[in-house]
Amino acid sequence: MSYGHFDDKKREYIITKPDTPLPWINYIGCEEYFGIISNTAGGYSFYRDARLRRLTRYRYNNAPFDFGGRYIYIRDNSSRIFWSPSWQPTRHDAENYSCRQGMGYSIISSTFKSIRAETLYFVPLGENLEIWQLSITNQSKKTRQLSVFSSIEFCLWDAQDDATNFQRNFNTGQVEIEDGVIYHKTEYRERRDHFAYFACSEKLAGYDTQRDVFLGAYRGWNAPIAVERGRSFNSVAHGWAPIGSHHVKLNLKAGETRIITFVLGYQENPKDKKFDPPDSQTINKQTVRPLIKKYLNPITVRTAFDSLRSYWEKVLGIYQVQTPNKHTDRMVNIWNAYQCMATFNISRSASFYESGIGRGLGFRDSNQDLLGFVHMVPERARERIIDLASTQLETGGAYHQYQPLTKRGNNDIGSDFNDDPLWLIIGVAAYLKETGDWSILDTPVPYDNKSGSEKPLYEHLERSLKYTLDRLGPHGLPLIGRADWNDCLNLNCFSDTPGQSFQTTTNKEGKVAESVFIAGMFVFAARELADIAEQRGLNTEADSYCQAAEQMDNTVRVHGWDGEWFLRAYDDFGNKVGSKECKEGKIFIEPQGFCVLAGIGLKDELAKKALDSVYKILATPHGIMLHQPAFSQYYLNLGEISSYPPGYKENSGIFCHNNPWIIIAETMAGNGDRAFDYYLRINPSAREKIGKLHRCEPYVYAQMIAGKDAPAHGEAKNSWLTGTAAWNYFAITQYILGIRPTYKGLMIAPVIPSEWEGFSVNRIFQGVQYNVTVKREGKGNKIELIIDGIRHQGNIIPKPPFGVTQVAVQVLLS
Ligand code: BGC
Ligand code: NOJ
Repeated sequence: MSYGHFDDKKREYIITKPDTPLPWINYIGCEEYFGIISNTAGGYSFYRDARLRRLTRYRYNNAPFDFGGRYIYIRDNSSRIFWSPSWQPTRHDAENYSCRQGMGYSIISSTFKSIRAETLYFVPLGENLEIWQLSITNQSKKTRQLSVFSSIEFCLWDAQDDATNFQRNFNTGQVEIEDGVIYHKTEYRERRDHFAYFACSEKLAGYDTQRDVFLGAYRGWNAPIAVERGRSFNSVAHGWAPIGSHHVKLNLKAGETRIITFVLGYQENPKDKKFDPPDSQTINKQTVRPLIKKYLNPITVRTAFDSLRSYWEKVLGIYQVQTPNKHTDRMVNIWNAYQCMATFNISRSASFYESGIGRGLGFRDSNQDLLGFVHMVPERARERIIDLASTQLETGGAYHQYQPLTKRGNNDIGSDFNDDPLWLIIGVAAYLKETGDWSILDTPVPYDNKSGSEKPLYEHLERSLKYTLDRLGPHGLPLIGRADWNDCLNLNCFSDTPGQSFQTTTNKEGKVAESVFIAGMFVFAARELADIAEQRGLNTEADSYCQAAEQMDNTVRVHGWDGEWFLRAYDDFGNKVGSKECKEGKIFIEPQGFCVLAGIGLKDELAKKALDSVYKILATPHGIMLHQPAFSQYYLNLGEISSYPPGYKENSGIFCHNNPWIIIAETMAGNGDRAFDYYLRINPSAREKIGKLHRCEPYVYAQMIAGKDAPAHGEAKNSWLTGTAAWNYFAITQYILGIRPTYKGLMIAPVIPSEWEGFSVNRIFQGVQYNVTVKREGKGNKIELIIDGIRHQGNIIPKPPFGVTQVAVQVLLS
């Protein structure tokens, strides 16, 4: 069954069946204004923060799954038949339906009764607004009298309150309508200085802003009474549910095309200039009017769309590869990079599986997202690092999450996830290697956003490392706290009360349970910090970090090794987790990945043994499972991990985020074939052919693929917002293809499949374009560099002299 296909030239995925197994979504907006849009125009928009500044309403977990969005209706005024060109919500049998999901835009088209309609949705760069540009063509032989209706349902800003506090919300809704523009101004009369607007390029035949008037009693979005009867009511919302709907009448001659533009946007006014006249309650529209006018002009829209395309051309141009494998090229050159932008922007907050209410930006998540994003827009990565570090606590610990709007740590979740601080070191190291911008380390950054507490960022990194050392357990391994990377391994929780949060309920003192995963991470992070210190000429400090790493490496060998693989943890009783001695959960993926990635056991047999055990016990054709055997029952001492039925999520699902750790570890052990084999198992494009089973979008990674214990083994879930994006990008670009930024220059260290004859990469690094061509001359991973025709020792390309912007690199692999 095919639902569509890739168009790599245009960088689009073209969906050709509207009823995909799940909504196949896209994001519009890449700076401050964002929208989620499905292949049938479902979804919503928000400014910066999906919880605190939600512009339009969306109801999750609906039936059908995706319902509510940026719907347009077309009505033939002679036959009175109406339909929606995006298929939903009327679900007519449209011909030639397609949804082209592209870089920051979606184009949905279909033909019905010889009326062709194509709508382009996107957010212009630098603006807090979205465009819907409808082009409508009469493909019949006679003139057609048509009505076009737009529709959007406004959210009353705070999405959590909007979905719960009805006794109040049914009374607060307010709008203004002026010159055909619908302004949504709920709560503007009190403490808000922002409003939304919805404009249309054409002269209106009417409008509606009160939902129940537009829809009619007991009717849904599939059959609004206004559309059915072909005439708006000019309703003005007061309380209840404000919406925006324009009505435009068109006479379309045979063969004629018309363009109608809708603009939906977010605008703030200075607090003392909210009203016009000042003593009125009317929105001051002076700042927004010129903007509306500008974007209702099709020429501006065209220019803005072209700029968006050039922006992506440039961003993606930083790393382009040609390999013998099309799934690799497509993901690296287009979609994986694109997904990294989305995870950087949205973190884990708003998708069709993340409600935008629960989670802001995760400390751990956002630091990891940097790995796949930092080369794209380094200035934004820098800003993110400072924001993250500003939520760090003086103890070196970190708020687990913060709200993007306020940039303040989230008190409900708090801190004490003991892996969190170490991710900051990893994120900053990635930034430094990419940019060489050492000044960031001297930037004063507060703790917990408290003014007066500012210290250079470098000190934040030192405290991050110290945080682990201050919290060692009985075996000298790091204490786990509430949880480490695996949020669901809750060794201090002991929750027997339904509904209690596994992540924040801590019933144990937490002085016993230790994490071998954090130990591996510590070794990795300490070595990163040592490199940073060395670069800054702080040799004594560098030595002490190396020693700390060395010592932890030893502790892992003594107390964290199980004979055939690395242990996962010790629980609150001091018993082993992830050991052959356990009845279930004998082996876990995380420590095998991170310990080897940190270099533990690479010089002897440990790494090889651990990786072979992963291959034998955890690998499936659909990816590598999190642990085995799955937990068949709930274990009080293990927590949420055992709350999931076997095969799902953290209970033995294929948690795609950590598969690349094994991929990287395999490359470090020199196994290109195995690394690439694992890479392809979860590569979404490579899974397109099993779309019926996979079900999620074939153009982005999903957080999870059901493991072998689940009835739906191979089914993906929770697409888009996952650390899988950054880590896979990092693994394929820097470890399999081996083009890796270092402090000394660009390293070339490919570990590719033995059958590949070679590949080539264009990589822009610190202002220089490197054209790298790799040619295989033997089966191994030994390399020889020829830089601009001259043989070069080692595998790092030194920075070229000032002014040189192109470097040709030939690589012989044997
Ligand atoms: C999920 C985890 C997630 C956590 C966030 C759990 O229910 O299984 O994947 O990280 O919630 O709070
Ligand atoms: C998703 C969370 O966002 C991430 O922080 C965590 O590491 C994984 N789940 C694993 O539990």
